[in-house]
Amino acid sequence: MQFRPVKGMNDILPGDIERWQRLESVFRSTVELHGYSEVRTPILEALELFVRSTGETSEIVEKQMFELERSGERLALRPEGTPGSARAFIGGSVHAREPVTRWYYIGPMFRAENPQRGRYRQFHQAGCEVYGDAGPIADAEMIDMLVGLLRALGVSSFDVRVNSLGGPQSRARYRNVLQDYLRPHANELSEHAQKRLLDNPLRILDSKNPRDIEAVKGAPSILEVLEPEDLAHFQGLRAALDALGTPYTIDPGLVRGLDYYTRTLFEFTSSAGKLGSQNALLGGGRYDGMLAELGGPQLPAIGYAMGLERMLLAMDDSALPQVQRCFVAPVGERAAHQGLVLARELRAREITVDLDGRGGSLRSLLRRADARGARFCLVIGDSELERGVVQVKDLRAHTQIELAPSAVASHIAVALTQDEAAG
Ligand code: HAM
Repeated sequence: MQFRPVKGMNDILPGDIERWQRLESVFRSTVELHGYSEVRTPILEALELFVRSTGETSEIVEKQMFELERSGERLALRPEGTPGSARAFIGGSVHAREPVTRWYYIGPMFRAENPQRGRYRQFHQAGCEVYGDAGPIADAEMIDMLVGLLRALGVSSFDVRVNSLGGPQSRARYRNVLQDYLRPHANELSEHAQKRLLDNPLRILDSKNPRDIEAVKGAPSILEVLEPEDLAHFQGLRAALDALGTPYTIDPGLVRGLDYYTRTLFEFTSSAGKLGSQNALLGGGRYDGMLAELGGPQLPAIGYAMGLERMLLAMDDSALPQVQRCFVAPVGERAAHQGLVLARELRAREITVDLDGRGGSLRSLLRRADARGARFCLVIGDSELERGVVQVKDLRAHTQIELAPSAVASHIAVALTQDEAAG
């Protein structure tokens, strides 16, 4: 019997992992430049945390949670990072120490969706959360940071859409307006949307069902019913984005599927060919009510999360650096000891080394070095030991020289530095 990964969950093997690492490292350095610090929270949380924050009527809580019960406790694998981060922020009383807190996280999330390209049951998010800044300058700064990040990662074609959901009052008003508008069309709506019409009509704007899309076409926009303070906030966001020259479009139909959002909402989509229909690279928004709802301080918050699998489908790889590798191939025990010392010297100079002490013919050693993509192969056999030298084969230039063991590391370090300088 052969075991396979669980449906919708994938291994990431060396060969692919280098792209992940590059994405994560550019993400980390970008957000750290903007003052964010990393937070790591558990993957398992109380199920109730997501019910209370992500929302009972959200698709995630309704049907996508991986739930389990242990000693009477109802737990869930986190479907997103925002609730756990908020829980940790509140639990650590962080607001008592810092006026504004900026956190980021990278890690796996779990949603029981039907897997397809760009949509998995275990997927990875890199996200940011800001606590204690009501914006809208903070909102614009976050969106602009993300535009810069995507450009740095070589994602060439993407669209930035923004909207405002307003605060609780605007939202309640819009809810009524939308219900009034849709009620006469109720029969034309999908079964799911008919249910939503009662408990969460805004979600109908998000439906992919052609019947719902048709029904909401002429619906009034939320931007028409925003309370004055909410409208001023949205205008403040637009003015800041305009001042930055950040490209964006306003999409009054953007609602996003999580229940906690207030005011600013945004989503970045890409038309990169490999993405297909799952084209949302990242999404986020403001959630000014969540901390208090979870028993914490009355503080505003904004954040986003980026899907790493989707980013990898949209990224251009031309900038992926190649590791310059050295393959050390001693034959015999005494040679192996010298190989160990040489490998240590090379690594002390930050040169990546594969030590292969399995022996074999020169041909097979070179074949192995080649299979690893090595730039240099160092051969030490009986004849080299006798003469007190190491054979240094440059596998790119197809040349070879013999050097005293003590001269090898510096020779290779110089050659690699010259390569780097030549680009
Ligand atoms: P979300 O829109 O549910 O927001 O997810 C954010 C991103 O995660 C999506 O745009 C997508 O790239 C990726 N993603 C979501 N589901 C999957 C999946 N099944 N397979 C692959 N990728 C997926 C959130 O999660 C919020 N926590 C964002 C946020 C943070 N809002 C405020 N703070």
